[in-house]
Order: sequence, then structure tokens, then C-alpha cells
Amino acid sequence: MGLPEAHIVIVCLLAFLCIALAANHFRTVRQRTRVTEEILRERFRGNLLRSISHDLRTPLAGIIGTSEMLMNMTAQNDRRYPLIAGIHKDADWLHSLVENILSLTRLQDGKPVLNKQKEAAEEVVGAAIHHISRYYPEYEITVQVPDELLLIPMDARLIRQVLINLLDNAVKHTALQDEISVSVTTDQEDLQNNMYAVFAVRDRGNGIADSELPHIFQMFYTSRVKPDDAQPGIGLGLPICDAVVKAHGGSIMARNRTDGPGAEFIFKLPLEN
Ligand SMILES: Nc1ncnc2c1ncn2[C@@H]1O[C@H](COP(=O)(O)OP(=O)(O)OP(=O)(O)O)[C@@H](O)[C@H]1O
Ligand SMILES: [Mg+2]
Repeated sequence: MGLPEAHIVIVCLLAFLCIALAANHFRTVRQRTRVTEEILRERFRGNLLRSISHDLRTPLAGIIGTSEMLMNMTAQNDRRYPLIAGIHKDADWLHSLVENILSLTRLQDGKPVLNKQKEAAEEVVGAAIHHISRYYPEYEITVQVPDELLLIPMDARLIRQVLINLLDNAVKHTALQDEISVSVTTDQEDLQNNMYAVFAVRDRGNGIADSELPHIFQMFYTSRVKPDDAQPGIGLGLPICDAVVKAHGGSIMARNRTDGPGAEFIFKLPLEN
């Protein structure tokens, strides 16, 4: 005797359910394998990038040092001078790229090791401006820091790199005669009344297109419209700023200025360790 119709329907439903569960399980396992493979590939890529960058540091420092020495030994009106200066500039650009890659791979490791100490705000800002002014001596950058000494817990080398990246962008997007400024203030911001140091880098360039604003902190995002004469960018500067500031427990944001043309980048660092 055959099963009653209701039983047949139940058996069919159960069979469908089993097939669906098995398919779902299979899909989950496949997804998990894919994610694991992706993580391993990413880690391999990170390690490769880090070891290549690390190995490039020493020869690059040698090229920078030697070209600097040759520049000092050559008169500026000598026809060889611009060639040597060109080698120096390119080597230095590569050097900052290598430093950016090393910082990013270090911060992306998940356990960033910060060498935090209390540093004077004006010294870190001064060091970043000194670095930028060596390459763009014709730009004038104004500075505003509090009158009293402001000590901020930070990894000075990394925060200096953040300021260099922001100033490098400001210089790339701003005409020579136009204003670029750095300011540091303090602010009591969140619900716990924590104090923050607030750094702002402002320029009078064309600003950032609304369509680009949501993407500029993404890795390898770089504007397709390049300012004239700009060194080629690869879109690592802002992701590094973001990673460094977050590793310090701070935050960073970008917006266009409301008091005229230009962009401003503001980042905050907690004043307590
Ligand atoms: N001050 C600024 N004014 C206008 N646009 C800016 C400014 N700073 C950044 N941007 C925009 O954000 C994009 C991403 O900046 P980011 O510093 O990450 O990369 P990059 O400068 O293109 O390359 P890299 O920093 O690696 O040399 C830039 O390509 C540019 O479009
Ligand atoms: Mg940049």
C-alpha cells in the first residue's frame, strides 16, 4: 500500500531541506576556505612588500647621501648640477615611498608597536615642515601652536610622517603664492571629557571634489586629475595617516574649507596615554 499523500509531501520536504542544508554547508566551507586563502595571500603579499622595502632602505640612503655630497661639491651653474639634483629628488621620493610602505605593513599587522613618548607638538610640526621645505623651499608654511608647551603622547616618527604626507598633498594641490598652514590646538571632545590635541593642515588649493571625498582614505586611491608638475602619487599617503592616527586612539577627517577655496585635514590625538 502506498504512503498517504500527506506523508509523501513531508518526505519530499524533508529531502529538500536536507539538500538545502547540505548545499549551504558546502557553500560555507567553500567561503571559509576562500577567506583563509585570501588572508594567507594577503599576509604573503605584506611580507614580500615589507622585505623588499626593507632591503631598499640601505641602498637608497646611500644614493641620497652620495648625491647630496656631489651636490655640495658642484657649483649650481654647472650643467651637471640639475642631473645630480634630479637623482637626489627621485631617490628621496622612493625613500618616502619605502617608508610609507614599511609603516603601513607594520600597522596592518594587527599588533602595531608604537614607540610612544610625550613629545612637544611644536617640535614634531617643525620637523615635518623642515623636511618638506627641503624639497619645496619656495613654499611658505605658517604655523600656529599654543604658547605654552604642549606635550602629546605619540610615536613621533609616525606622527611626523602623517604631517609630511598631509603637507606633501597640500603642496601638490596649492599654487606657490597661496597659503598653507599647520595649527595645533587642544579640545575637550567626547562624553568622558577626554582632552585631545587637534592638528589641522589647511591649504588654498582647489579642494577635493565631492565625488572623491568618500574615497580618499582608501588604499591606492589617487586622483585621476593630477595637478600640473606633481610627482606621481600611488594613493598610500592618506591610508597611512588614517592607520597611524587610529593606532594612537585618534581620528582623522578631511573636508573642504568653508572660508574660501582649499582643503583641510584635521586629526586628533588623545592627550592621555
Ligand atoms: N590637500 C588636498 N587637496 C586636494 N585633494 C587632495 C588633497 N590631499 C589629498 N587629496 C586627494 O586625495 C587623494 C589621495 O591622497 P593620498 O595622499 O592618499 O595619495 P596621493 O597623494 O595621490 O599619493 P601618495 O601620497 O601615495 O604619493 C589624492 O590623489 C587627491 O586626489
Ligand atoms: Mg599623498
